[in-house]
Amino acid sequence: LGGGLAVAGVVALRGRSDAKPATLPLRTRAETPGERTLSLVAAERRAKLLGPDGPDSAVWTYGERLFDVVRIAQGETLAVELENRLPEHTAIHWHGLRIPNDQDGVPYITQPPVRPGERHSYRFTPPDTGTFWFHPHCDTIAQLGRGLAGVLIVEGDESVPYDADLTLVLKDWRLDAATGGYLPFMTQRGALRAGTFGTVRTVNGETAPLIVVPAGGDVRLRLLNLDSTRVGDIGVDGGEAAVIAIDGNPIAPFPLKDWRLGPAMRLDLVVRAPAAGGEVRLMDYFAAEPVVLATLAGEGEPAKRKAFDPAPLTRSAIPEPRMKGAERLTFAFATASKQKAALAVSADDGDPLAAAMLDSLCAASTVNWSINREAWPVGDHSQVPKPLALLREGRTYVAELSNETPHVHPIHLHGFTFKVLGSTKRDLPVHFADTVLLTPNERITIAFVADRPGDWMIHCHLIEHQETGMMGYLKVA
Ligand code: C2O
Ligand code: CU
Repeated sequence: LGGGLAVAGVVALRGRSDAKPATLPLRTRAETPGERTLSLVAAERRAKLLGPDGPDSAVWTYGERLFDVVRIAQGETLAVELENRLPEHTAIHWHGLRIPNDQDGVPYITQPPVRPGERHSYRFTPPDTGTFWFHPHCDTIAQLGRGLAGVLIVEGDESVPYDADLTLVLKDWRLDAATGGYLPFMTQRGALRAGTFGTVRTVNGETAPLIVVPAGGDVRLRLLNLDSTRVGDIGVDGGEAAVIAIDGNPIAPFPLKDWRLGPAMRLDLVVRAPAAGGEVRLMDYFAAEPVVLATLAGEGEPAKRKAFDPAPLTRSAIPEPRMKGAERLTFAFATASKQKAALAVSADDGDPLAAAMLDSLCAASTVNWSINREAWPVGDHSQVPKPLALLREGRTYVAELSNETPHVHPIHLHGFTFKVLGSTKRDLPVHFADTVLLTPNERITIAFVADRPGDWMIHCHLIEHQETGMMGYLKVA
C-alpha cells in the first residue's frame, strides 16, 4: 500500500513460536489517483476459531481471511465490487459512514438484494476519518454470526504519528467445541432477553492473543465490537490508556477507566506499550470475573517517550446541530409482548408451564420488540412498513431515545453521525457517535442534522432484537 500506510504490529499466538503473524489482512488497490478499488467475494471459507489444534469452522468472509481491513485516505473514493457466492442474498451496509442513501446497503430499502451469483457495486467518498466497519443487512443473525464483516479505516486524523496502529475486532462465535460447527445463532429466550451469547470469545479470530508492540511506544488500538450480542466494559490493566475516538469520532483524550462497548460500537485508544518483556492487558470488566481479551507484549528498543499525554486527533467536519429551533423526536424502545417477556423470565427460572406457553406464543409470532409501539414485520425484510418519522432535509433534530426494558440496546442510526448530549442515568461525555448504548430504563438525548435525503434505518444492533422487531426507518425528504 502506498501513501505511507504502514502495517504495524504483529499478532502472534501465545506460546507458539511457529505461529505466523496474524494481523488482519489489509486490502485495496489504487488504480486512478484519488480512487481505491476493492473486490469482495462473499463466500464460505474455513478458519480455526477453536485454536490451532481444534477443528475447523466454516466462516463467511469477504476475502481469503477473516475481517478484511480496508484503509483509505480521507478524500479518496472507494469503488467496491461485491460478488455473492453465498447460498442466500446479501448486501453491504457501510456502518457509520455519512454517504448517499443509495449506497447504504439495506436490501429492499436502499437497493435490491444481491442474489446468489450476482454482483453489485458501491462507490462513495467517505467524508469523515475514523474507524468504521461493514456488514450485511439481511439474515444478519446468520451472516454476521458466521463472521461476514470487515473494517474500514479512513485515515488522516492523526496529528502525531503513533508507534503502532492495531485493529482489534472483538467477536464471539457460537461453536460446538467438538465439531467446530455452529450452535443455533438465535434462541427464543435469548431473543426475548439479553441475546444469545457466543461460546468462544476472540480478538481477530484468536482467543486472548498475545500481540507484540514496540516497547515503551504509544500504540493506537482501534477496538471494534462486531459481536451480535455481547456488551463489554473495556479497560486496560498494567498500563496507561486514553480514549481518543468514539465510533471513529475524535474526542478530547481522557483516561480510560472502563468504557461500555456494545455491539457495533468502536473505541479508539492510545495505550503506552510496556517495556521489553513487560505486558499490558486489554480487559473486559463486565462480568464479575474479568476477562483478558488480549495481551500486549513490549519488544525491541524502548522508545524515548515523555510522560503519557496523547495528542487529540483532528476532527472531521460533522454538521453541528443547531439547537435553536430544532425539531423534537422521541423513540421508545420497548417489548412488543409483555406476556412473552414475562414468560421468558419464568421459563429461565425453570417453570415448565411457562416454557411451553412461550413455545406456543413464539410459534404464533416471532415479534418481540418495538420502536414507538411499531414492530418491524419479521421475515426477510421485503415487507417495508411506513417510516417511524418524516424529517425535513437540512433541519436539526433532537431525539430522546428511551429504553422501557430491563435490557441493554445499542441503538444505531444509519447515515448520520449524531451528538450524544446526555443521559438520565450515566455521566457520559458529550460526543459524536453512530451507535449509542441504552442501558436499562435509561433515556439518552441525541441531536443531528438530517442533511441527506433518503430512508435511513434506526435499530437495535443486538441482532436478535433487530431481527425480532426493534427496527424502523426515518424518511428524510
Ligand atoms: Cu451496523 Cu443497520 O447496521
Ligand atoms: Cu436491543
